[in-house]
Amino acid sequence: TAEKGKRNLMKRVITYGTFDLLHYGHINLLKRAKAYGDYLIVGLSTDEFNAGKGKKAYFSYDQRKELLESLRYVDLVIPEQTWEQKRNDILLYQVDTFVMGSDWAGKFDDLSDICDVIYLPRTPEISSSKIKNDLEHRN
Ligand code: CTP
Repeated sequence: TAEKGKRNLMKRVITYGTFDLLHYGHINLLKRAKAYGDYLIVGLSTDEFNAGKGKKAYFSYDQRKELLESLRYVDLVIPEQTWEQKRNDILLYQVDTFVMGSDWAGKFDDLSDICDVIYLPRTPEISSSKIKNDLEHRN
């Protein structure tokens, strides 16, 4: 059917992250990621996954998810619970392009046997950590 044809022609993109205290660096990354296709999936780090990395987000998973879902660039948010799930996600969602910020450059090249792997330059001088740090040290 035409509907099925359309679904197969749609290019799917995936990216991963915590996206805490959503800022313009995140928006800029999501906007550029979406431009690689028609459908953007975000693998959003769960609070448990972050705890395992020694990280604690200010906003909960559900709050971060709701913020991301309200953005025009984001079509679907799925939980990121393990380091190893990426290959499964890419196959399950028929992802064409895997996008990460340049802080991860080279780290996911092994996925290039099943999709395009792209690292985008980070937006300078902004991060969730910087926001927290700046607010903490301000009078
Ligand atoms: N990102 C970006 N430019 C920035 C900050 C983040 O392009 N200035 C990208 C990252 O490269 C990643 C995605 O946004 O692909 C999610 O990053 P995340 O680690 O959640 O955000 P940070 O602001 O980097 O958080 P932290 O300070 O906790 O590392």
